[in-house]
Amino acid sequence: MSDIGKFVEERLSALKKRPITAATEAGLERSYLRDLIVGKKQTIRADMIEKVAEAIGATPQQLIALQSGEAPARFAEAAVAGRSPVDGKRVLLIIGGGIAAYKCLDLIRRLRERGAAVRPVMTRAAAEFVTPLSVGALAADRVFSELFDREDEQDVGHIRLARETDLIVVAPATADLMAKMAAGLANDLASAILLAAGAPVLIAPAMNPHMWTHPATRRSRETLKSDGIHFIGPNAGEMAESGEAGVGRMAEPLEIVVAAETLLDTTPRPLTGKRIVVTSGPTHEPIDPVRYIANRSSGKQGHAIAAALARLGADVRLVSGPVTIADPAGVTVTHVETARQMKDAAEALLPADAAIFAAAVADWRAATEADEKMKKEGGKGPSSLPLTENPDILAGIGNHQKLRPRLVIGFAAETDKLIEHGTAKLKRKGADYIVANDVSPDSGIGGSGVMGGDRNRITLLSSEGAEEWPEMSKDEVAARLAALVAERLA
Ligand SMILES: Cc1cc2nc3c(=O)[nH]c(=O)nc-3n(C[C@H](O)[C@H](O)[C@H](O)COP(=O)(O)O)c2cc1C
Repeated sequence: MSDIGKFVEERLSALKKRPITAATEAGLERSYLRDLIVGKKQTIRADMIEKVAEAIGATPQQLIALQSGEAPARFAEAAVAGRSPVDGKRVLLIIGGGIAAYKCLDLIRRLRERGAAVRPVMTRAAAEFVTPLSVGALAADRVFSELFDREDEQDVGHIRLARETDLIVVAPATADLMAKMAAGLANDLASAILLAAGAPVLIAPAMNPHMWTHPATRRSRETLKSDGIHFIGPNAGEMAESGEAGVGRMAEPLEIVVAAETLLDTTPRPLTGKRIVVTSGPTHEPIDPVRYIANRSSGKQGHAIAAALARLGADVRLVSGPVTIADPAGVTVTHVETARQMKDAAEALLPADAAIFAAAVADWRAATEADEKMKKEGGKGPSSLPLTENPDILAGIGNHQKLRPRLVIGFAAETDKLIEHGTAKLKRKGADYIVANDVSPDSGIGGSGVMGGDRNRITLLSSEGAEEWPEMSKDEVAARLAALVAERLA
Protein backbone atom coordinates (compact mmCIF):
# COMPACT_ATOMS: atom_id res chain seq x y z
CA MET A 1 0.00 0.00 0.00
CA SER A 2 1.25 3.53 -0.79
CA ASP A 3 2.33 5.78 2.09
CA ILE A 4 -0.71 7.97 1.66
CA GLY A 5 -2.96 4.91 1.54
CA LYS A 6 -1.50 3.77 4.83
CA PHE A 7 -1.82 7.24 6.28
CA VAL A 8 -5.49 7.48 5.28
CA GLU A 9 -6.19 4.01 6.67
CA GLU A 10 -4.53 4.82 10.01
CA ARG A 11 -6.38 8.12 10.33
CA LEU A 12 -9.70 6.44 9.61
CA SER A 13 -9.19 3.79 12.24
CA ALA A 14 -7.95 6.42 14.72
CA LEU A 15 -11.07 8.45 14.00
CA LYS A 16 -13.33 5.53 14.95
CA LYS A 17 -11.69 5.26 18.38
CA ARG A 18 -11.01 8.90 19.04
CA PRO A 19 -13.00 11.24 21.27
CA ILE A 20 -13.02 14.11 18.78
CA THR A 21 -12.85 16.79 21.42
CA ALA A 22 -11.78 20.02 19.77
CA ALA A 23 -13.70 19.33 16.58
CA THR A 24 -16.93 18.10 18.19
CA GLU A 25 -16.91 21.12 20.45
CA ALA A 26 -16.80 23.20 17.30
CA GLY A 27 -19.76 21.27 15.88
CA LEU A 28 -17.87 19.15 13.37
CA GLU A 29 -19.54 15.88 12.39
CA ARG A 30 -17.67 12.61 12.20
CA SER A 31 -18.81 12.14 8.59
CA TYR A 32 -17.35 15.54 7.69
CA LEU A 33 -14.01 14.52 9.19
CA ARG A 34 -14.17 11.18 7.40
CA ASP A 35 -14.69 12.95 4.08
CA LEU A 36 -11.69 15.10 4.79
CA ILE A 37 -9.50 12.11 5.50
CA VAL A 38 -10.39 10.33 2.29
CA GLY A 39 -9.71 13.53 0.37
CA LYS A 40 -13.19 14.60 -0.69
CA LYS A 41 -13.10 18.30 -1.41
CA GLN A 42 -14.14 20.31 1.60
CA THR A 43 -13.63 23.87 2.65
CA ILE A 44 -12.17 24.43 6.08
CA ARG A 45 -12.18 27.83 7.66
CA ALA A 46 -8.62 29.03 8.14
CA ASP A 47 -9.09 29.43 11.90
CA MET A 48 -10.31 25.81 12.16
CA ILE A 49 -7.39 24.13 10.40
CA GLU A 50 -5.42 23.40 13.56
CA LYS A 51 -8.44 22.04 15.45
CA VAL A 52 -9.56 19.84 12.58
CA ALA A 53 -6.01 18.56 12.06
CA GLU A 54 -5.82 17.70 15.74
CA ALA A 55 -9.18 15.93 15.54
CA ILE A 56 -8.00 13.59 12.80
CA GLY A 57 -4.52 13.16 14.28
CA ALA A 58 -2.76 14.86 11.36
CA THR A 59 -0.53 17.88 11.01
CA PRO A 60 -2.08 21.03 9.46
CA GLN A 61 0.13 20.43 6.40
CA GLN A 62 -1.14 16.88 5.99
CA LEU A 63 -4.69 18.11 6.34
CA ILE A 64 -4.21 20.72 3.64
CA ALA A 65 -2.65 18.09 1.41
CA LEU A 66 -5.57 15.73 1.98
CA GLN A 67 -8.02 18.44 1.05
CA SER A 68 -6.67 18.62 -2.46
CA GLY A 69 -8.29 15.27 -3.27
CA GLU A 70 -7.11 11.67 -3.10
CA ALA A 71 -4.88 11.53 -6.18
CA PRO A 72 -2.98 14.80 -5.79
CA ALA A 73 -2.74 14.22 -2.06
CA ARG A 74 -0.47 11.29 -2.82
CA PHE A 75 2.02 13.82 -4.09
CA ALA A 76 0.99 16.76 -1.94
CA GLU A 77 1.81 15.05 1.33
CA ALA A 78 5.32 14.40 0.12
CA ALA A 79 5.71 17.85 -1.36
CA VAL A 80 4.61 19.78 1.71
CA ALA A 81 7.55 21.98 2.50
CA GLY A 82 9.56 22.04 5.67
CA ARG A 83 10.16 18.39 6.47
CA SER A 84 13.65 17.13 5.82
CA PRO A 85 14.12 13.56 4.58
CA VAL A 86 16.57 13.04 7.48
CA ASP A 87 13.81 13.83 10.01
CA GLY A 88 13.35 10.82 12.28
CA LYS A 89 16.26 8.96 10.65
CA ARG A 90 19.28 7.47 12.44
CA VAL A 91 22.58 8.73 11.10
CA LEU A 92 25.82 7.06 12.20
CA LEU A 93 28.55 9.68 11.81
CA ILE A 94 32.10 8.34 11.56
CA ILE A 95 34.64 11.08 12.19
CA GLY A 96 38.11 10.51 10.76
CA GLY A 97 41.40 12.06 11.88
CA GLY A 98 41.83 15.10 9.66
CA ILE A 99 41.94 18.84 10.19
CA ALA A 100 38.39 19.14 8.79
CA ALA A 101 37.09 17.16 11.79
CA TYR A 102 36.17 20.51 13.37
CA LYS A 103 33.44 20.89 10.73
CA CYS A 104 31.74 17.74 11.97
CA LEU A 105 30.54 19.69 15.02
CA ASP A 106 28.50 21.94 12.76
CA LEU A 107 27.42 18.92 10.71
CA ILE A 108 26.02 17.24 13.84
CA ARG A 109 24.09 20.40 14.68
CA ARG A 110 22.67 20.72 11.16
CA LEU A 111 21.57 17.10 11.06
CA ARG A 112 19.96 17.29 14.49
CA GLU A 113 18.09 20.50 13.79
CA ARG A 114 16.52 18.65 10.85
CA GLY A 115 15.32 15.90 13.15
CA ALA A 116 18.00 13.23 12.64
CA ALA A 117 19.37 11.21 15.57
CA VAL A 118 23.15 11.32 15.25
CA ARG A 119 25.29 8.54 16.74
CA PRO A 120 28.96 9.52 16.65
CA VAL A 121 31.90 7.17 16.11
CA MET A 122 35.40 8.63 16.29
CA THR A 123 38.67 7.12 15.14
CA ARG A 124 41.58 7.42 17.56
CA ALA A 125 43.15 10.01 15.26
CA ALA A 126 39.90 12.04 15.20
CA ALA A 127 40.20 12.55 18.96
CA GLU A 128 43.47 14.41 18.27
CA PHE A 129 41.50 17.04 16.38
CA VAL A 130 38.17 17.40 18.23
CA THR A 131 37.27 16.25 21.71
CA PRO A 132 34.80 13.42 22.26
CA LEU A 133 33.24 15.71 24.88
CA SER A 134 32.18 18.32 22.28
CA VAL A 135 31.06 15.67 19.81
CA GLY A 136 29.02 13.78 22.42
CA ALA A 137 27.46 16.97 23.80
CA LEU A 138 26.35 18.16 20.38
CA ALA A 139 25.08 14.73 19.35
CA ALA A 140 23.38 14.19 22.74
CA ASP A 141 24.68 10.62 22.59
CA ARG A 142 27.76 8.80 23.80
CA VAL A 143 30.73 8.64 21.49
CA PHE A 144 31.84 5.20 20.32
CA SER A 145 35.51 4.73 19.53
CA GLU A 146 36.89 1.39 20.74
CA LEU A 147 36.44 -1.90 18.93
CA PHE A 148 37.55 -3.91 21.95
CA ASP A 149 35.15 -2.34 24.40
CA ARG A 150 34.21 -5.04 26.90
CA GLU A 151 30.77 -3.65 27.67
CA ASP A 152 29.73 -2.87 24.11
CA GLU A 153 31.11 -6.05 22.63
CA GLN A 154 29.15 -8.34 24.97
CA ASP A 155 26.45 -8.12 22.32
CA VAL A 156 28.84 -7.58 19.39
CA GLY A 157 28.40 -3.80 19.51
CA HIS A 158 30.19 -2.97 16.28
CA ILE A 159 27.75 -5.09 14.25
CA ARG A 160 24.83 -3.52 16.09
CA LEU A 161 26.14 -0.01 15.34
CA ALA A 162 26.56 -0.97 11.68
CA ARG A 163 23.05 -2.38 11.37
CA GLU A 164 20.92 -0.10 13.55
CA THR A 165 21.17 2.92 11.32
CA ASP A 166 19.53 4.41 8.22
CA LEU A 167 22.65 6.06 6.85
CA ILE A 168 26.38 6.06 7.59
CA VAL A 169 28.23 9.33 6.96
CA VAL A 170 32.03 9.44 7.07
CA ALA A 171 33.23 13.03 7.57
CA PRO A 172 36.02 13.73 7.20
CA ALA A 173 36.96 10.61 5.25
CA THR A 174 40.75 10.47 5.50
CA ALA A 175 43.00 8.91 2.85
CA ASP A 176 43.71 6.23 5.44
CA LEU A 177 40.02 5.42 6.04
CA MET A 178 39.30 5.32 2.32
CA ALA A 179 42.20 2.93 1.74
CA LYS A 180 41.00 0.69 4.57
CA MET A 181 37.46 0.67 3.22
CA ALA A 182 38.68 -0.15 -0.28
CA ALA A 183 40.84 -2.98 1.03
CA GLY A 184 38.16 -4.35 3.36
CA LEU A 185 40.21 -3.89 6.51
CA ALA A 186 38.43 -3.98 9.85
CA ASN A 187 41.08 -3.36 12.49
CA ASP A 188 39.35 -0.57 14.40
CA LEU A 189 35.77 0.30 15.26
CA ALA A 190 35.20 2.68 12.30
CA SER A 191 36.50 0.29 9.64
CA ALA A 192 34.78 -2.73 11.22
CA ILE A 193 31.44 -0.88 11.14
CA LEU A 194 31.99 0.13 7.53
CA LEU A 195 32.71 -3.46 6.54
CA ALA A 196 29.55 -4.69 8.28
CA ALA A 197 27.36 -1.83 6.99
CA GLY A 198 23.92 -2.56 5.58
CA ALA A 199 22.77 1.05 5.18
CA PRO A 200 23.96 3.41 2.42
CA VAL A 201 27.37 4.98 3.08
CA LEU A 202 28.14 8.62 2.22
CA ILE A 203 31.72 9.80 2.51
CA ALA A 204 33.09 13.36 2.55
CA PRO A 205 36.81 13.05 1.74
CA ALA A 206 39.19 15.69 3.08
CA MET A 207 42.91 15.67 2.54
CA ASN A 208 45.88 17.47 1.09
CA PRO A 209 45.56 17.79 -2.74
CA HIS A 210 48.68 15.63 -3.21
CA MET A 211 47.12 12.86 -1.13
CA TRP A 212 43.87 13.17 -3.12
CA THR A 213 45.58 12.87 -6.51
CA HIS A 214 48.03 10.14 -5.44
CA PRO A 215 47.54 6.96 -7.49
CA ALA A 216 46.86 4.98 -4.30
CA THR A 217 43.97 7.27 -3.29
CA ARG A 218 42.75 7.26 -6.87
CA ARG A 219 42.59 3.47 -6.76
CA SER A 220 40.68 3.61 -3.44
CA ARG A 221 38.24 6.08 -4.99
CA GLU A 222 37.55 3.89 -8.02
CA THR A 223 37.05 0.81 -5.86
CA LEU A 224 34.75 2.60 -3.43
CA LYS A 225 32.66 4.06 -6.25
CA SER A 226 32.22 0.65 -7.83
CA ASP A 227 31.32 -0.74 -4.38
CA GLY A 228 28.39 1.73 -4.34
CA ILE A 229 29.81 4.17 -1.80
CA HIS A 230 28.40 7.69 -2.27
CA PHE A 231 30.74 10.68 -2.39
CA ILE A 232 30.23 14.34 -1.54
CA GLY A 233 33.19 16.55 -2.43
CA PRO A 234 36.00 17.15 -1.95
CA ASN A 235 35.88 20.76 -3.09
CA ALA A 236 38.61 22.89 -4.57
CA GLY A 237 40.06 25.66 -2.42
CA GLU A 238 42.67 26.57 0.12
CA MET A 239 43.75 23.93 2.65
CA ALA A 240 43.23 24.88 6.27
CA GLU A 241 46.60 23.67 7.48
CA SER A 242 49.14 24.56 4.82
CA GLY A 243 47.91 27.51 2.78
CA GLU A 244 48.15 25.16 -0.24
CA ALA A 245 45.32 25.22 -2.75
CA GLY A 246 43.76 22.44 -4.84
CA VAL A 247 41.11 19.77 -4.64
CA GLY A 248 40.87 18.23 -1.19
CA ARG A 249 38.75 20.51 1.02
CA MET A 250 35.93 18.73 2.76
CA ALA A 251 32.44 19.65 1.50
CA GLU A 252 30.68 22.16 3.75
CA PRO A 253 28.34 20.73 6.41
CA LEU A 254 25.23 21.94 4.56
CA GLU A 255 26.40 20.29 1.34
CA ILE A 256 26.82 17.05 3.27
CA VAL A 257 23.33 17.45 4.74
CA VAL A 258 21.84 17.96 1.27
CA ALA A 259 23.63 14.83 0.01
CA ALA A 260 22.29 12.89 3.03
CA GLU A 261 18.80 14.23 2.38
CA THR A 262 19.00 13.19 -1.26
CA LEU A 263 20.02 9.64 -0.27
CA LEU A 264 17.23 9.31 2.29
CA ASP A 265 14.56 11.07 0.25
CA THR A 266 11.74 8.75 -0.71
CA THR A 267 9.51 11.51 -2.08
CA PRO A 268 7.62 10.38 -5.17
CA ARG A 269 8.91 12.33 -8.17
CA PRO A 270 5.98 12.42 -10.54
CA LEU A 271 7.40 15.40 -12.45
CA THR A 272 10.69 13.75 -13.41
CA GLY A 273 11.50 14.53 -17.04
CA LYS A 274 9.08 17.48 -17.19
CA ARG A 275 10.38 20.95 -17.94
CA ILE A 276 8.48 23.75 -16.21
CA VAL A 277 9.02 27.48 -16.68
CA VAL A 278 8.16 29.68 -13.69
CA THR A 279 8.33 33.48 -13.48
CA SER A 280 8.58 35.23 -10.14
CA GLY A 281 9.12 38.61 -8.47
CA PRO A 282 8.49 42.14 -9.69
CA THR A 283 9.95 43.86 -12.71
CA HIS A 284 11.80 47.16 -12.63
CA GLU A 285 11.04 49.52 -15.48
CA PRO A 286 13.68 52.24 -15.80
CA ILE A 287 12.74 55.92 -16.03
CA ASP A 288 16.29 57.21 -16.09
CA PRO A 289 19.63 55.72 -14.93
CA VAL A 290 18.65 55.99 -11.23
CA ARG A 291 14.84 55.73 -11.10
CA TYR A 292 12.46 52.95 -11.97
CA ILE A 293 8.82 51.86 -11.70
CA ALA A 294 8.41 48.83 -9.45
CA ASN A 295 5.82 47.01 -7.33
CA ARG A 296 5.74 45.33 -3.92
CA SER A 297 6.13 41.72 -5.10
CA SER A 298 8.79 39.86 -3.08
CA GLY A 299 9.04 36.74 -5.25
CA LYS A 300 8.24 34.54 -2.22
CA GLN A 301 5.24 32.81 -3.84
CA GLY A 302 6.87 32.24 -7.26
CA HIS A 303 10.12 31.01 -5.73
CA ALA A 304 8.22 28.66 -3.40
CA ILE A 305 6.36 27.23 -6.42
CA ALA A 306 9.65 26.68 -8.28
CA ALA A 307 11.10 24.89 -5.23
CA ALA A 308 7.98 22.71 -4.75
CA LEU A 309 8.02 21.65 -8.43
CA ALA A 310 11.73 20.82 -8.17
CA ARG A 311 11.03 18.67 -5.11
CA LEU A 312 8.63 16.66 -7.26
CA GLY A 313 11.44 16.04 -9.75
CA ALA A 314 10.70 18.71 -12.38
CA ASP A 315 13.42 20.43 -14.38
CA VAL A 316 12.45 23.92 -13.25
CA ARG A 317 13.57 27.03 -15.13
CA LEU A 318 12.86 30.11 -13.04
CA VAL A 319 12.91 33.59 -14.55
CA SER A 320 13.20 35.95 -11.61
CA GLY A 321 12.78 39.70 -11.47
CA PRO A 322 14.85 41.69 -8.95
CA VAL A 323 14.27 40.10 -5.51
CA THR A 324 16.19 39.98 -2.25
CA ILE A 325 15.50 36.30 -1.49
CA ALA A 326 17.86 33.43 -2.37
CA ASP A 327 17.53 31.30 -5.50
CA PRO A 328 15.59 28.12 -4.66
CA ALA A 329 17.61 24.90 -4.38
CA GLY A 330 17.68 22.59 -7.38
CA VAL A 331 16.30 25.19 -9.80
CA THR A 332 18.01 26.88 -12.78
CA VAL A 333 17.51 30.64 -12.48
CA THR A 334 17.71 33.45 -15.03
CA HIS A 335 17.80 36.90 -13.42
CA VAL A 336 16.16 39.77 -15.30
CA GLU A 337 15.09 43.35 -14.57
CA THR A 338 12.39 44.43 -16.99
CA ALA A 339 9.19 42.97 -18.41
CA ARG A 340 10.70 42.80 -21.87
CA GLN A 341 13.74 40.88 -20.57
CA MET A 342 11.41 38.54 -18.66
CA LYS A 343 9.39 37.85 -21.82
CA ASP A 344 12.51 37.11 -23.88
CA ALA A 345 13.95 34.85 -21.17
CA ALA A 346 10.68 32.93 -20.68
CA GLU A 347 10.16 32.45 -24.42
CA ALA A 348 13.74 31.26 -24.87
CA LEU A 349 13.00 28.48 -22.37
CA LEU A 350 10.21 26.99 -24.52
CA PRO A 351 9.22 24.33 -25.38
CA ALA A 352 8.14 23.31 -21.89
CA ASP A 353 5.52 20.97 -20.43
CA ALA A 354 4.05 23.67 -18.19
CA ALA A 355 4.51 27.35 -17.45
CA ILE A 356 3.49 29.19 -14.29
CA PHE A 357 3.50 32.96 -14.41
CA ALA A 358 3.66 34.13 -10.83
CA ALA A 359 5.71 37.29 -11.50
CA ALA A 360 4.10 40.67 -10.93
CA VAL A 361 5.03 42.11 -14.29
CA ALA A 362 4.66 45.87 -14.67
CA ASP A 363 1.79 46.65 -17.07
CA TRP A 364 3.44 49.85 -18.19
CA ARG A 365 6.90 51.29 -18.59
CA ALA A 366 8.17 54.80 -19.26
CA ALA A 367 7.62 55.59 -22.93
CA THR A 368 11.19 56.80 -23.17
CA GLU A 369 14.11 56.06 -20.89
CA ALA A 370 16.23 59.14 -20.25
CA ASP A 371 19.97 58.64 -20.72
CA GLU A 372 20.78 61.17 -18.00
CA LYS A 373 19.19 61.62 -14.58
CA MET A 374 16.10 63.78 -15.04
CA LYS A 375 16.53 67.15 -13.36
CA LYS A 376 14.15 69.07 -11.14
CA GLU A 377 13.53 72.38 -12.86
CA GLY A 378 12.90 75.15 -10.31
CA GLY A 379 9.36 76.50 -10.22
CA LYS A 380 8.07 74.27 -13.03
CA GLY A 381 6.60 71.52 -10.83
CA PRO A 382 6.83 67.81 -11.67
CA SER A 383 6.97 66.86 -15.33
CA SER A 384 4.51 64.24 -16.53
CA LEU A 385 5.72 60.72 -17.22
CA PRO A 386 4.29 59.29 -20.44
CA LEU A 387 3.81 55.52 -20.20
CA THR A 388 3.58 52.78 -22.76
CA GLU A 389 2.23 49.26 -22.40
CA ASN A 390 4.53 46.33 -21.68
CA PRO A 391 4.14 43.04 -23.54
CA ASP A 392 1.75 40.55 -21.89
CA ILE A 393 3.95 37.51 -21.25
CA LEU A 394 1.13 35.21 -20.10
CA ALA A 395 -1.15 36.08 -23.03
CA GLY A 396 1.72 35.68 -25.50
CA ILE A 397 2.64 32.19 -24.33
CA GLY A 398 -0.92 31.13 -23.40
CA ASN A 399 -2.11 31.88 -26.95
CA HIS A 400 1.05 30.78 -28.76
CA GLN A 401 0.23 28.71 -31.85
CA LYS A 402 3.22 26.39 -31.75
CA LEU A 403 4.97 26.66 -28.42
CA ARG A 404 2.11 26.84 -25.89
CA PRO A 405 2.97 24.46 -23.02
CA ARG A 406 0.41 21.75 -22.24
CA LEU A 407 -0.46 23.49 -18.98
CA VAL A 408 -0.45 27.25 -18.50
CA ILE A 409 -1.14 28.85 -15.12
CA GLY A 410 -1.31 32.60 -14.61
CA PHE A 411 -1.63 34.76 -11.52
CA ALA A 412 -4.06 37.63 -11.11
CA ALA A 413 -3.30 40.05 -8.32
CA GLU A 414 -6.45 42.07 -7.74
CA THR A 415 -7.67 44.56 -5.17
CA ASP A 416 -11.35 44.36 -6.15
CA LYS A 417 -13.80 42.07 -8.03
CA LEU A 418 -11.33 39.20 -7.71
CA ILE A 419 -13.38 36.51 -9.44
CA GLU A 420 -14.78 38.74 -12.19
CA HIS A 421 -11.37 40.12 -13.16
CA GLY A 422 -9.64 36.74 -12.76
CA THR A 423 -12.20 34.93 -14.94
CA ALA A 424 -11.83 37.55 -17.67
CA LYS A 425 -8.06 36.99 -17.61
CA LEU A 426 -8.50 33.22 -17.84
CA LYS A 427 -10.17 33.52 -21.23
CA ARG A 428 -8.24 36.47 -22.62
CA LYS A 429 -4.84 35.05 -21.77
CA GLY A 430 -5.37 31.45 -22.84
CA ALA A 431 -4.59 30.05 -19.39
CA ASP A 432 -5.82 26.73 -17.98
CA TYR A 433 -5.88 28.17 -14.48
CA ILE A 434 -5.71 31.62 -12.97
CA VAL A 435 -4.56 31.87 -9.40
CA ALA A 436 -6.42 34.93 -8.20
CA ASN A 437 -5.40 36.65 -5.01
CA ASP A 438 -6.53 39.70 -3.15
CA VAL A 439 -3.44 41.88 -2.78
CA SER A 440 -5.07 44.84 -1.07
CA PRO A 441 -3.06 45.75 2.05
CA ASP A 442 -6.20 45.46 4.21
CA SER A 443 -7.12 41.94 2.95
CA GLY A 444 -6.50 40.66 6.50
CA ILE A 445 -4.19 37.96 5.14
CA GLY A 446 -1.14 37.34 7.31
CA GLY A 447 -1.29 40.76 8.97
CA SER A 448 0.69 42.66 6.34
CA GLY A 449 -1.23 41.50 3.26
CA VAL A 450 -0.17 39.11 0.50
CA MET A 451 2.47 41.20 -1.27
CA GLY A 452 5.75 40.75 0.54
CA GLY A 453 4.12 38.62 3.28
CA ASP A 454 4.47 34.90 4.01
CA ARG A 455 0.83 33.88 3.72
CA ASN A 456 -1.67 33.76 0.91
CA ARG A 457 -5.33 32.99 0.29
CA ILE A 458 -6.11 32.18 -3.29
CA THR A 459 -9.04 31.38 -5.51
CA LEU A 460 -8.24 28.93 -8.27
CA LEU A 461 -10.17 29.77 -11.42
CA SER A 462 -10.58 27.37 -14.31
CA SER A 463 -13.21 26.43 -16.89
CA GLU A 464 -14.74 24.31 -14.10
CA GLY A 465 -15.36 27.35 -11.90
CA ALA A 466 -13.82 28.90 -8.82
CA GLU A 467 -12.25 26.92 -5.99
CA GLU A 468 -11.41 28.81 -2.82
CA TRP A 469 -8.41 27.61 -0.89
CA PRO A 470 -8.09 28.42 2.80
CA GLU A 471 -5.44 30.87 3.95
CA MET A 472 -2.10 29.09 4.27
CA SER A 473 1.60 29.77 4.03
CA LYS A 474 3.05 30.49 0.60
CA ASP A 475 5.02 27.23 0.87
CA GLU A 476 1.79 25.32 1.38
CA VAL A 477 0.08 27.05 -1.55
CA ALA A 478 3.15 26.11 -3.61
CA ALA A 479 3.06 22.45 -2.52
CA ARG A 480 -0.60 22.17 -3.36
CA LEU A 481 -0.18 23.86 -6.71
CA ALA A 482 2.78 21.57 -7.51
CA ALA A 483 0.56 18.59 -6.67
CA LEU A 484 -2.07 19.91 -9.08
CA VAL A 485 0.56 20.30 -11.82
CA ALA A 486 1.71 16.72 -11.18
CA GLU A 487 -1.86 15.50 -11.48
CA ARG A 488 -2.49 17.44 -14.70
CA LEU A 489 0.75 16.35 -16.38
CA ALA A 490 0.45 12.71 -15.26
C1 LIG B 1 47.95 17.92 11.64
C2 LIG B 1 47.49 16.75 10.83
C3 LIG B 1 46.51 16.91 9.89
C4 LIG B 1 46.07 15.83 9.14
N1 LIG B 1 45.06 16.03 8.22
C5 LIG B 1 44.69 15.00 7.45
C6 LIG B 1 43.67 15.18 6.48
O1 LIG B 1 43.11 16.27 6.33
N2 LIG B 1 43.31 14.14 5.72
C7 LIG B 1 43.88 12.92 5.86
O2 LIG B 1 43.53 12.01 5.10
N3 LIG B 1 44.83 12.71 6.78
C8 LIG B 1 45.24 13.71 7.59
N4 LIG B 1 46.23 13.50 8.52
C9 LIG B 1 46.77 12.17 8.68
C10 LIG B 1 45.83 11.29 9.50
O3 LIG B 1 45.56 11.88 10.75
C11 LIG B 1 46.43 9.90 9.67
O4 LIG B 1 46.52 9.28 8.40
C12 LIG B 1 45.60 9.06 10.61
O5 LIG B 1 46.24 7.79 10.73
C13 LIG B 1 44.21 8.85 10.11
O6 LIG B 1 43.50 8.01 10.96
P1 LIG B 1 42.02 7.60 10.73
O7 LIG B 1 41.86 7.36 9.28
O8 LIG B 1 41.84 6.37 11.53
O9 LIG B 1 41.18 8.70 11.25
C14 LIG B 1 46.66 14.56 9.31
C15 LIG B 1 47.63 14.40 10.28
C16 LIG B 1 48.05 15.47 11.02
C17 LIG B 1 49.13 15.26 12.06
